[in-house]
Amino acid sequence: MDKFYITTPIYYVNDEPHLGHAYTTVLADTLARYHRLFGEEVFFLTGLDEHGQKVQEAAERRGVPPQQHCDEMAGRFLDLWRKLGISHDDFLRTTQERHQRAVQMLLGLLYEKGEIYKAPYEGWYCIPDERFWTEKDLADGRCPECGRSVVRLSEDNYFFRMGRHQEWLVHYIEDHPDFILPEARRNEILGFLRKPLGDLCISRPKFRLSWGIPLPFDPDYVTYVWVDALTNYISAIGVFEDEARFRKWWPADFHFIGKDILTTHAVYWPTMLHAAGIELPRHIFAHGWWLVDERKMSKSRGNVVRPLELIEKYGPDAFRYFLMRDMAPGQDSSFSEEALVGRYNSDLANDLGNLLSRVVRMIGQYTGGRLPGPDSEDLTDRELREETLRAVGRVRRHVEALRLDFALEEAIEIARRTNRYLERTAPWRLYKEGRRERVGTVLYYAGEVLRILGDLLGPVMPRKAGDLKSQLDICSGGAWDERIRWGVLKPGTEVPGGPPLFPRVRPEVPKQGVAGKALITIEDFQKLDLRMAEVVSAEPVPGTQKLLHLEVDIGGERRQLVAGLAKHYRPEELVGKSVVVVVNLKPTRIRGIESQGMLLAADDGESLTLLTPDRKVRPGAKVR
Ligand code: MSP
Repeated sequence: MDKFYITTPIYYVNDEPHLGHAYTTVLADTLARYHRLFGEEVFFLTGLDEHGQKVQEAAERRGVPPQQHCDEMAGRFLDLWRKLGISHDDFLRTTQERHQRAVQMLLGLLYEKGEIYKAPYEGWYCIPDERFWTEKDLADGRCPECGRSVVRLSEDNYFFRMGRHQEWLVHYIEDHPDFILPEARRNEILGFLRKPLGDLCISRPKFRLSWGIPLPFDPDYVTYVWVDALTNYISAIGVFEDEARFRKWWPADFHFIGKDILTTHAVYWPTMLHAAGIELPRHIFAHGWWLVDERKMSKSRGNVVRPLELIEKYGPDAFRYFLMRDMAPGQDSSFSEEALVGRYNSDLANDLGNLLSRVVRMIGQYTGGRLPGPDSEDLTDRELREETLRAVGRVRRHVEALRLDFALEEAIEIARRTNRYLERTAPWRLYKEGRRERVGTVLYYAGEVLRILGDLLGPVMPRKAGDLKSQLDICSGGAWDERIRWGVLKPGTEVPGGPPLFPRVRPEVPKQGVAGKALITIEDFQKLDLRMAEVVSAEPVPGTQKLLHLEVDIGGERRQLVAGLAKHYRPEELVGKSVVVVVNLKPTRIRGIESQGMLLAADDGESLTLLTPDRKVRPGAKVR
């Protein structure tokens, strides 16, 4: 059995999990599940990066000890992963003993090999990023990575001789074209490596940062957080403690990361491994970013998307589906709730959910709630069978090429095709014509497609795929080849059915319109009955400065209105004017007079102008 070892970055615990964390984790989870489905033995690792300045500061801000802060944040991440149905095999936290031991062993090994030396270090340090920069690295005197200000620091530190592995690394990347994926990222790293590669400062003096793993050869220092974090990929599988286990899983097949952390993974990590005499991971895949309003999410911009709210509204599986369907891995993609709702309604509710409900309903109506058996296959049936099986092959190839967006489009196209098949074969007509065998074949064929779709979509939507299968009482399992055969369903099985798989959701109306006004729907607007009216008479309301008492003709019917127009119009000016009236307003008494409607006028704060038509219209005409 082939093995497949896949990892996500380990996330910082200085912030709540957001859409970006959820994306990488769902991506890795989906691939882990596909590879299990394809019959491979999978080890899927995720976890948390718990040391370093940012975490120490986050804990300080909250006034709790760092470990307590980490434990609480770990609970949040794990809670989200549980809700999202993440099927990790291990959850590594860098504060765990097993990890700390491995980091110290690795550093000890590198130290003994002469790969680490002590030297004074002076440089520009970005506190939030915990990185030193040289003068020429800076962008306008600021951190080239995050743009924030840097401070000048000088101190003794330990260095890893990274620079001496530069040439080797360039050759390695050139000889292994699929080591760094996609290609654009590989070129980016090769470009980066055209400049001389310096050595890497791997320590932080304890007086400045205590929240870290002590260096095994100098207890006055803790390990630089990236050296600590990267080691997770080997500490989790027992690098220095369980040789058999390590041999079984290493090298990792895929490190999935976002493009923001490419250099650390594609330069620091390979050189560290090489120096320690450990094989490199097979592939590093850097995906793009989810952008919100065309920009990267960030707390300061206030555009951070929190997955929990979306999961509550649309369910974890629809959210997973959207993330996998709407990003071409490697490129950036825009996130919006409207796009999510659009996908949900079109692909999941209309195409997939609808197919299942139709088939289940027809089995209930035409074949007594039991799955019918197929009769002879005609050309349309054959086309459906062959097309479906061909598409299954394409789905698998897309998954293997990491194009989950294509894989899902292909899978939903299978559902669409089957809906068209039902339109063409029209079992409802066949039933009326008494052609029971044909009804049986068509429903059996549609059932088979649904069974296969349950398997194909399971890695992306594990719970909904389970619901789909239980509605048809399918307990499929077993090897991939067995699942994608045609004719697995057992005729005669009772089909229990169930509620709609994806009940349609209404697109959420933006809460505010112009100047903070609540938005209304077209139905709301249509509640107003607006009519053209002609003013028949007008006179002041006695005892008031502002009010006029008008009589208007709204087309064969007269209405009296009280309007606050006296400051803007003289009564005689109004007689004969064509105006717009809300005629279905509940009457109200003003100064003892019943006002039976309301005139429309424009108010610019200074004067009031009645709305009148620019051509003659008869009273009673509807205003739309
Ligand atoms: N702790 C380091 C990683 C150490 S791995 C040895 C770290 N953590 S992080 O919490 O900042 O997570 C970074 C990862 O989150 C990115 O690599 C990416 O996988 C994901 N994302 C963060 N923002 C993102 C988007 N806007 N879009 C997609 N994913 C992004 O860096």
